[in-house]
Amino acid sequence: MESWRLESSNPAFFNDRLNYSLSNEDTSIEVSLQPQNADTVVTIAGSGSRVLPLFRKSPKEMVILDLSEQQLALTDLRIQTLKQFDYPDFLKLFGYEEATTKIRRRLFAQLTLDERTRARMQSHLESHEDLPLIYTGRWEQTMLKLHKVVKTLFSAREINQMFDCKTDKEWSTYYFRSFPHFRWAALVRLLANTQTLNTLLYRGSHPRLNMASSNYEYFAPRFKEMFRAGPPRKNPFFQLIFLGKLQYPEGFPSEVESETSYLEQKRGALNSDITLKRQNIHEYLATHPSITFASLSDIFSYLTPEAANEVSSLLASNASHSSVIRYYLYRPIELTTGQLIRQSDKMNFYEILQLGPNLSHASS
Ligand SMILES: C[S@@+](CC[C@H](N)C(=O)[O-])C[C@H]1O[C@@H](n2cnc3c(N)ncnc32)[C@H](O)[C@@H]1O
Repeated sequence: MESWRLESSNPAFFNDRLNYSLSNEDTSIEVSLQPQNADTVVTIAGSGSRVLPLFRKSPKEMVILDLSEQQLALTDLRIQTLKQFDYPDFLKLFGYEEATTKIRRRLFAQLTLDERTRARMQSHLESHEDLPLIYTGRWEQTMLKLHKVVKTLFSAREINQMFDCKTDKEWSTYYFRSFPHFRWAALVRLLANTQTLNTLLYRGSHPRLNMASSNYEYFAPRFKEMFRAGPPRKNPFFQLIFLGKLQYPEGFPSEVESETSYLEQKRGALNSDITLKRQNIHEYLATHPSITFASLSDIFSYLTPEAANEVSSLLASNASHSSVIRYYLYRPIELTTGQLIRQSDKMNFYEILQLGPNLSHASS
Protein backbone atom coordinates (compact mmCIF):
# COMPACT_ATOMS: atom_id res chain seq x y z
CA MET A 1 0.00 0.00 0.00
CA GLU A 2 1.74 3.15 -1.16
CA SER A 3 -1.02 5.73 -1.02
CA TRP A 4 1.23 8.06 0.98
CA ARG A 5 3.74 8.28 -1.87
CA LEU A 6 3.70 11.03 -4.45
CA GLU A 7 1.72 9.62 -7.38
CA SER A 8 -0.10 12.61 -8.71
CA SER A 9 0.63 16.27 -9.00
CA ASN A 10 -1.28 17.11 -5.81
CA PRO A 11 0.13 15.21 -2.83
CA ALA A 12 -1.18 16.19 0.60
CA PHE A 13 2.12 17.61 1.82
CA PHE A 14 2.93 19.79 -1.22
CA ASN A 15 -0.32 21.69 -1.17
CA ASP A 16 -0.83 25.40 -1.10
CA ARG A 17 0.44 26.09 2.37
CA LEU A 18 3.88 27.56 2.51
CA ASN A 19 6.10 24.66 3.54
CA TYR A 20 9.53 26.25 3.00
CA SER A 21 10.62 29.83 3.56
CA LEU A 22 14.35 29.63 4.20
CA SER A 23 16.08 26.73 2.46
CA ASN A 24 17.19 23.43 3.70
CA GLU A 25 19.17 22.79 0.54
CA ASP A 26 22.38 24.55 -0.23
CA THR A 27 22.74 24.73 -4.02
CA SER A 28 26.39 25.78 -4.10
CA ILE A 29 27.15 22.24 -5.33
CA GLU A 30 24.87 22.83 -8.31
CA VAL A 31 26.48 26.19 -8.97
CA SER A 32 29.88 24.51 -9.17
CA LEU A 33 28.56 22.05 -11.79
CA GLN A 34 26.32 24.41 -13.75
CA PRO A 35 27.74 25.59 -17.10
CA GLN A 36 28.22 29.34 -17.58
CA ASN A 37 25.55 31.02 -19.78
CA ALA A 38 23.54 27.81 -20.15
CA ASP A 39 20.71 28.03 -22.67
CA THR A 40 18.08 26.52 -20.33
CA VAL A 41 18.38 25.74 -16.63
CA VAL A 42 15.41 23.95 -15.05
CA THR A 43 14.90 23.99 -11.34
CA ILE A 44 12.36 23.49 -8.55
CA ALA A 45 11.29 26.60 -6.66
CA GLY A 46 10.96 25.43 -3.05
CA SER A 47 11.50 28.53 -0.95
CA GLY A 48 13.27 30.23 -3.86
CA SER A 49 16.38 30.49 -1.73
CA ARG A 50 17.79 27.41 -3.47
CA VAL A 51 17.16 29.10 -6.86
CA LEU A 52 18.92 32.47 -6.38
CA PRO A 53 22.51 31.10 -6.40
CA LEU A 54 21.82 29.49 -9.81
CA PHE A 55 21.65 32.99 -11.35
CA ARG A 56 25.38 33.50 -10.68
CA LYS A 57 26.23 31.52 -13.81
CA SER A 58 23.97 33.79 -15.93
CA PRO A 59 21.64 31.25 -17.54
CA LYS A 60 19.95 32.58 -20.67
CA GLU A 61 16.67 30.98 -19.65
CA MET A 62 15.62 29.86 -16.16
CA VAL A 63 12.54 27.65 -15.84
CA ILE A 64 11.32 27.37 -12.24
CA LEU A 65 8.67 24.79 -11.44
CA ASP A 66 6.76 23.80 -8.34
CA LEU A 67 3.50 22.09 -7.46
CA SER A 68 2.67 24.79 -4.94
CA GLU A 69 1.45 28.27 -5.86
CA GLN A 70 2.64 29.53 -2.47
CA GLN A 71 6.21 28.36 -3.07
CA LEU A 72 6.12 29.94 -6.53
CA ALA A 73 4.82 33.23 -5.13
CA LEU A 74 7.58 33.33 -2.50
CA THR A 75 10.17 32.52 -5.18
CA ASP A 76 8.81 35.32 -7.36
CA LEU A 77 9.03 37.70 -4.39
CA ARG A 78 12.67 36.68 -3.83
CA ILE A 79 13.57 37.19 -7.49
CA GLN A 80 11.85 40.60 -7.66
CA THR A 81 13.55 41.67 -4.44
CA LEU A 82 16.91 40.55 -5.84
CA LYS A 83 16.29 42.52 -9.04
CA GLN A 84 14.97 45.68 -7.39
CA PHE A 85 16.76 45.98 -4.02
CA ASP A 86 20.31 46.15 -2.87
CA TYR A 87 21.80 43.61 -0.47
CA PRO A 88 21.01 45.37 2.87
CA ASP A 89 17.32 45.78 1.97
CA PHE A 90 17.05 42.14 0.83
CA LEU A 91 18.49 41.11 4.22
CA LYS A 92 15.96 43.31 6.03
CA LEU A 93 12.88 42.35 4.05
CA PHE A 94 13.48 38.62 4.48
CA GLY A 95 14.58 38.88 8.10
CA TYR A 96 18.27 38.00 7.89
CA GLU A 97 18.97 41.37 9.43
CA GLU A 98 16.90 42.87 12.20
CA ALA A 99 14.34 45.46 11.14
CA THR A 100 11.05 46.59 12.57
CA THR A 101 7.81 45.25 11.10
CA LYS A 102 7.16 48.79 9.88
CA ILE A 103 10.38 48.81 7.87
CA ARG A 104 9.71 45.35 6.42
CA ARG A 105 6.18 46.40 5.45
CA ARG A 106 7.48 49.56 3.83
CA LEU A 107 10.03 47.57 1.82
CA PHE A 108 7.36 45.11 0.71
CA ALA A 109 5.11 47.99 -0.39
CA GLN A 110 7.94 49.54 -2.42
CA LEU A 111 8.38 46.48 -4.61
CA THR A 112 6.83 46.27 -8.05
CA LEU A 113 5.17 42.86 -8.05
CA ASP A 114 2.83 40.73 -10.08
CA GLU A 115 -0.64 41.20 -8.53
CA ARG A 116 -1.04 37.49 -7.67
CA THR A 117 2.35 37.43 -5.93
CA ARG A 118 1.48 40.58 -4.00
CA ALA A 119 -1.91 39.25 -2.89
CA ARG A 120 -0.59 35.84 -1.81
CA MET A 121 2.41 37.22 0.02
CA GLN A 122 0.44 40.06 1.59
CA SER A 123 -2.02 37.65 3.20
CA HIS A 124 0.81 35.30 4.19
CA LEU A 125 2.65 38.17 5.91
CA GLU A 126 -0.53 39.36 7.63
CA SER A 127 -1.24 35.89 8.99
CA HIS A 128 2.28 35.77 10.49
CA GLU A 129 2.22 39.29 11.88
CA ASP A 130 5.64 40.24 13.15
CA LEU A 131 7.54 37.15 12.15
CA PRO A 132 10.25 37.74 9.53
CA LEU A 133 9.56 35.91 6.26
CA ILE A 134 12.41 33.40 6.51
CA TYR A 135 10.81 31.81 9.59
CA THR A 136 7.25 31.49 8.29
CA GLY A 137 7.35 28.17 6.39
CA ARG A 138 6.02 25.02 8.04
CA TRP A 139 9.48 23.43 7.95
CA GLU A 140 11.04 26.48 9.62
CA GLN A 141 8.21 26.65 12.18
CA THR A 142 8.89 23.00 13.00
CA MET A 143 12.58 23.82 13.54
CA LEU A 144 11.55 26.58 15.94
CA LYS A 145 9.44 24.06 17.86
CA LEU A 146 12.49 21.79 18.02
CA HIS A 147 14.41 24.77 19.38
CA LYS A 148 12.02 24.86 22.34
CA VAL A 149 12.79 21.18 23.05
CA VAL A 150 16.54 21.79 22.63
CA LYS A 151 16.36 24.57 25.23
CA THR A 152 15.02 22.13 27.79
CA LEU A 153 18.02 19.82 27.28
CA PHE A 154 20.87 22.29 26.78
CA SER A 155 21.55 25.18 29.16
CA ALA A 156 21.97 28.73 27.88
CA ARG A 157 25.60 28.53 29.03
CA GLU A 158 26.24 25.41 26.94
CA ILE A 159 24.63 26.95 23.88
CA ASN A 160 26.68 30.14 24.32
CA GLN A 161 29.87 28.09 24.63
CA MET A 162 29.05 26.24 21.39
CA PHE A 163 28.39 29.43 19.47
CA ASP A 164 31.36 31.28 20.94
CA CYS A 165 33.64 28.89 19.03
CA LYS A 166 34.82 30.72 15.95
CA THR A 167 37.61 28.56 14.59
CA ASP A 168 37.74 24.84 13.75
CA LYS A 169 40.30 24.40 16.52
CA GLU A 170 38.19 26.07 19.22
CA TRP A 171 35.18 24.08 18.12
CA SER A 172 36.86 20.68 17.93
CA THR A 173 38.33 21.18 21.41
CA TYR A 174 34.87 21.99 22.74
CA TYR A 175 33.16 19.22 20.77
CA PHE A 176 35.49 16.45 21.89
CA ARG A 177 35.92 17.62 25.50
CA SER A 178 32.70 19.27 26.59
CA PHE A 179 29.81 18.75 24.16
CA PRO A 180 26.95 16.81 25.82
CA HIS A 181 26.99 13.92 23.31
CA PHE A 182 24.67 11.75 25.34
CA ARG A 183 21.92 14.36 25.54
CA TRP A 184 22.25 15.11 21.84
CA ALA A 185 21.88 11.40 20.96
CA ALA A 186 18.80 11.22 23.20
CA LEU A 187 17.29 14.18 21.37
CA VAL A 188 17.92 12.66 17.94
CA ARG A 189 16.38 9.37 19.13
CA LEU A 190 13.35 11.21 20.44
CA LEU A 191 12.70 13.32 17.38
CA ALA A 192 14.04 11.41 14.40
CA ASN A 193 11.17 9.04 13.97
CA THR A 194 8.53 8.90 11.30
CA GLN A 195 5.63 9.34 13.68
CA THR A 196 7.00 12.51 15.29
CA LEU A 197 8.04 13.98 11.93
CA ASN A 198 4.68 13.15 10.36
CA THR A 199 2.88 14.78 13.28
CA LEU A 200 5.10 17.84 13.35
CA LEU A 201 5.41 18.43 9.63
CA TYR A 202 4.80 15.89 6.91
CA ARG A 203 1.15 14.98 7.48
CA GLY A 204 1.73 11.36 6.49
CA SER A 205 4.10 12.06 3.59
CA HIS A 206 7.37 11.55 5.44
CA PRO A 207 9.64 9.53 3.14
CA ARG A 208 9.85 5.82 3.71
CA LEU A 209 13.21 4.47 4.77
CA ASN A 210 15.46 2.23 2.71
CA MET A 211 18.87 3.83 3.26
CA ALA A 212 19.41 2.72 6.87
CA SER A 213 17.94 0.33 9.39
CA SER A 214 16.20 3.11 11.35
CA ASN A 215 15.71 6.86 11.19
CA TYR A 216 18.18 7.16 14.06
CA GLU A 217 20.79 5.14 12.15
CA TYR A 218 20.26 7.49 9.20
CA PHE A 219 20.38 10.81 11.06
CA ALA A 220 22.93 10.19 13.85
CA PRO A 221 26.05 9.81 11.62
CA ARG A 222 24.90 12.71 9.42
CA PHE A 223 24.64 15.02 12.41
CA LYS A 224 28.03 13.81 13.60
CA GLU A 225 29.53 14.83 10.24
CA MET A 226 27.76 18.18 10.45
CA PHE A 227 29.25 18.78 13.88
CA ARG A 228 32.69 17.74 12.69
CA ALA A 229 32.49 20.05 9.67
CA GLY A 230 33.15 23.14 11.80
CA PRO A 231 31.73 25.61 14.31
CA PRO A 232 27.89 25.48 14.60
CA ARG A 233 27.73 29.23 13.94
CA LYS A 234 28.63 28.39 10.30
CA ASN A 235 25.63 26.12 9.93
CA PRO A 236 22.11 27.55 9.38
CA PHE A 237 20.39 24.40 10.67
CA PHE A 238 22.30 24.47 13.98
CA GLN A 239 21.62 28.20 14.34
CA LEU A 240 17.89 27.54 13.91
CA ILE A 241 17.56 24.71 16.37
CA PHE A 242 20.00 25.90 19.04
CA LEU A 243 19.44 29.68 18.80
CA GLY A 244 15.92 29.81 17.34
CA LYS A 245 17.08 32.27 14.68
CA LEU A 246 19.82 33.05 12.20
CA GLN A 247 22.24 35.20 14.12
CA TYR A 248 25.68 34.69 12.56
CA PRO A 249 26.15 35.75 8.91
CA GLU A 250 28.90 33.14 8.41
CA GLY A 251 26.13 30.54 8.60
CA PHE A 252 23.59 32.23 6.35
CA PRO A 253 22.35 30.27 3.31
CA SER A 254 24.08 30.70 -0.07
CA GLU A 255 21.54 33.21 -1.40
CA VAL A 256 22.94 35.82 1.00
CA GLU A 257 26.42 34.52 1.70
CA SER A 258 28.11 37.76 0.56
CA GLU A 259 27.36 41.06 -1.12
CA THR A 260 29.60 40.07 -4.04
CA SER A 261 27.68 36.88 -4.77
CA TYR A 262 24.39 38.76 -4.29
CA LEU A 263 25.45 41.20 -7.03
CA GLU A 264 26.39 38.30 -9.32
CA GLN A 265 22.93 36.81 -8.72
CA LYS A 266 21.32 40.16 -9.44
CA ARG A 267 23.21 40.56 -12.74
CA GLY A 268 22.27 37.01 -13.75
CA ALA A 269 18.59 37.47 -12.85
CA LEU A 270 18.32 40.81 -14.68
CA ASN A 271 19.65 39.24 -17.87
CA SER A 272 17.80 35.95 -17.73
CA ASP A 273 14.50 35.02 -19.31
CA ILE A 274 12.65 33.68 -16.25
CA THR A 275 9.53 31.50 -16.22
CA LEU A 276 7.74 30.44 -13.03
CA LYS A 277 5.25 27.69 -13.58
CA ARG A 278 3.02 25.40 -11.57
CA GLN A 279 3.83 22.05 -13.11
CA ASN A 280 5.01 18.61 -12.16
CA ILE A 281 8.67 18.22 -13.17
CA HIS A 282 7.82 14.81 -14.56
CA GLU A 283 5.35 16.33 -17.03
CA TYR A 284 7.72 19.12 -17.90
CA LEU A 285 10.63 16.82 -18.74
CA ALA A 286 8.37 14.55 -20.77
CA THR A 287 7.50 17.48 -23.04
CA HIS A 288 10.84 19.34 -23.16
CA PRO A 289 13.45 17.16 -24.80
CA SER A 290 16.31 19.65 -24.78
CA ILE A 291 17.46 21.45 -21.68
CA THR A 292 20.99 22.29 -20.57
CA PHE A 293 21.08 21.62 -16.85
CA ALA A 294 18.67 20.83 -14.03
CA SER A 295 18.88 21.34 -10.29
CA LEU A 296 16.06 19.34 -8.77
CA SER A 297 15.17 19.87 -5.19
CA ASP A 298 14.53 16.93 -2.94
CA ILE A 299 11.49 15.67 -4.81
CA PHE A 300 12.92 12.21 -5.37
CA SER A 301 12.24 11.09 -1.79
CA TYR A 302 8.55 11.48 -2.55
CA LEU A 303 8.34 9.86 -5.99
CA THR A 304 7.30 6.28 -6.62
CA PRO A 305 10.23 4.14 -7.85
CA GLU A 306 8.64 4.05 -11.32
CA ALA A 307 8.25 7.83 -11.49
CA ALA A 308 11.78 8.33 -10.10
CA ASN A 309 13.22 6.05 -12.79
CA GLU A 310 11.36 7.87 -15.49
CA VAL A 311 12.36 11.33 -14.26
CA SER A 312 15.99 10.25 -13.95
CA SER A 313 16.11 8.73 -17.43
CA LEU A 314 14.43 11.83 -18.89
CA LEU A 315 17.05 13.95 -17.15
CA ALA A 316 19.84 11.78 -18.49
CA SER A 317 18.53 11.98 -22.05
CA ASN A 318 17.18 15.56 -22.18
CA ALA A 319 19.95 17.54 -20.50
CA SER A 320 23.19 18.29 -22.30
CA HIS A 321 25.04 18.52 -18.95
CA SER A 322 24.74 16.27 -15.95
CA SER A 323 22.10 17.40 -13.46
CA VAL A 324 21.87 17.25 -9.69
CA ILE A 325 19.27 15.49 -7.57
CA ARG A 326 18.84 15.00 -3.83
CA TYR A 327 16.91 12.62 -1.63
CA TYR A 328 16.98 11.47 1.97
CA LEU A 329 15.96 8.34 3.88
CA TYR A 330 14.62 6.73 0.72
CA ARG A 331 16.92 6.00 -2.23
CA PRO A 332 14.44 5.85 -5.08
CA ILE A 333 16.71 4.73 -7.92
CA GLU A 334 19.56 2.36 -8.61
CA LEU A 335 22.83 4.15 -7.94
CA THR A 336 24.19 2.79 -11.21
CA THR A 337 22.10 5.46 -12.99
CA GLY A 338 24.28 8.25 -11.66
CA GLN A 339 27.26 9.08 -9.54
CA LEU A 340 27.27 10.07 -5.92
CA ILE A 341 28.73 13.43 -5.08
CA ARG A 342 30.88 12.94 -2.02
CA GLN A 343 30.77 16.53 -0.97
CA SER A 344 27.63 17.29 0.97
CA ASP A 345 25.77 20.52 1.41
CA LYS A 346 25.67 22.36 4.71
CA MET A 347 22.51 20.56 5.77
CA ASN A 348 24.00 17.13 5.14
CA PHE A 349 20.63 15.38 5.25
CA TYR A 350 20.71 14.48 1.61
CA GLU A 351 22.44 12.02 -0.59
CA ILE A 352 23.32 14.04 -3.68
CA LEU A 353 23.58 12.43 -7.07
CA GLN A 354 24.75 13.61 -10.46
CA LEU A 355 22.83 12.24 -13.44
CA GLY A 356 23.42 12.50 -17.17
CA PRO A 357 26.35 13.04 -19.51
CA ASN A 358 29.91 14.05 -18.49
CA LEU A 359 29.88 12.89 -14.88
CA SER A 360 33.30 14.39 -14.38
CA HIS A 361 32.92 16.12 -11.02
CA ALA A 362 31.37 13.25 -9.12
CA SER A 363 33.04 10.45 -7.29
CA SER A 364 31.17 7.44 -6.03
C1 LIG B 1 10.99 18.65 -0.39
S1 LIG B 1 10.73 20.33 -0.94
C2 LIG B 1 12.30 20.98 -0.73
C3 LIG B 1 12.36 22.46 -0.55
C4 LIG B 1 13.73 22.92 -0.40
N1 LIG B 1 14.48 22.03 0.46
C5 LIG B 1 14.08 24.33 -0.12
O1 LIG B 1 15.15 24.50 0.37
O2 LIG B 1 13.34 25.26 -0.45
C6 LIG B 1 10.45 20.18 -2.54
C7 LIG B 1 9.73 21.30 -3.27
O3 LIG B 1 9.41 20.70 -4.51
C8 LIG B 1 8.02 20.81 -4.82
N2 LIG B 1 7.72 19.55 -5.50
C9 LIG B 1 7.61 18.32 -4.96
N3 LIG B 1 7.40 17.41 -5.91
C10 LIG B 1 7.39 18.07 -7.10
C11 LIG B 1 7.23 17.66 -8.46
N4 LIG B 1 7.03 16.39 -8.78
N5 LIG B 1 7.27 18.61 -9.42
C12 LIG B 1 7.46 19.92 -9.11
N6 LIG B 1 7.64 20.34 -7.84
C13 LIG B 1 7.60 19.45 -6.84
C14 LIG B 1 7.34 21.03 -3.48
O4 LIG B 1 6.16 21.78 -3.57
C15 LIG B 1 8.42 21.77 -2.68
O5 LIG B 1 8.32 23.17 -2.81
